[in-house]
Amino acid sequence: MHEHWYVACRSKQLGRSPIERVVLGEQLVLFRMQDGEVGALANRCAHRNLALSRGKVMTDGLSCAYHGWTYDPSGACVRVPAACNGCSPKGRPRVRSYPVREKQGLIWVYLSEKGEEPEGEPMDFPYHGQPRWQHWFMERVFEGDAFNCAENFLDCPHTNHVHRGLFRTEKTRENEVEITSGRDWVQAEFLNEKRIDTLLGRILCPKGGQMRHTDRFMLPYVTRVDYRAHETRHFVVMSQCTPMGDDQTRVFTYMAFRFDGWGPLLRLFYQPFAHRVLDQDVDVIRWQTEDIRRHGPRRFTFHESDAIAREMSDLVSGRSLEGKDVRRKKIRF
Ligand code: FES
Ligand SMILES: [Fe+2]
Repeated sequence: MHEHWYVACRSKQLGRSPIERVVLGEQLVLFRMQDGEVGALANRCAHRNLALSRGKVMTDGLSCAYHGWTYDPSGACVRVPAACNGCSPKGRPRVRSYPVREKQGLIWVYLSEKGEEPEGEPMDFPYHGQPRWQHWFMERVFEGDAFNCAENFLDCPHTNHVHRGLFRTEKTRENEVEITSGRDWVQAEFLNEKRIDTLLGRILCPKGGQMRHTDRFMLPYVTRVDYRAHETRHFVVMSQCTPMGDDQTRVFTYMAFRFDGWGPLLRLFYQPFAHRVLDQDVDVIRWQTEDIRRHGPRRFTFHESDAIAREMSDLVSGRSLEGKDVRRKKIRF
């Protein structure tokens, strides 16, 4: 899925050394100039094709480890050390460069099939840096494709099994869900979500009662889950899935919450909990991919109980959901 922004890495991962990343099957090198500017280039020197990620950052750009050809963030070769007359701007060798943005502690790259300029900007993560909100990012490489990952992040029924005891229990309840959608998104709102019967549920909703729970999918592969007990108790989990190859996805998960005045204290407990839940999903997605490989091509059964998986699949296949009716159904989890 080209013509979109994807997170390549976190800002703090990009120090003095270049790093390599694979996005949509394309090999990229990311590097930071001494003035802080970030470059994203094809990870292949124009000269003899050494990976530029083996090189080092000099004052004038990223210098290849083999013969020192040096590239600036636009991809132009600005120095050929063995050339007596330097590297004349005319007929300069080049490598492909990618549009880059750095914000909210993440570095985004724009992947365009035709090498076009981006139309919009990368999305913002909500409540980032706002007073009384806690937030952090988690990063995992999932052995699974981006659809399977995104589906997992918005799939409620697996929580009774994969995260049993941690996030939900085996006790299920009937939930009424309202599904709305648009051109490039679909959302499920759970209309009678009661307190979850686990420690997390008791913390979030100590007096019981109803929570507002919405699950949203946005193209290309962004998921957002909100649990809101009331104004001052609100949890957001957003994942941005960056497809690497066919069966590998780098996922950046943004956790944000506010919880009365107890944010810093709750974080001590909530952060390790979130990592544990995420690792369980890493495992189940790896099993799914291994098992599909063993049994031949995938043959999924989309079922009413899958909430919005079918709509997600439609969006990923390029079908718009604009003008679709709002609909309701019931799911047990
Ligand atoms: S291979 Fe990069 S400078 Fe020769
Ligand atoms: Fe999960």
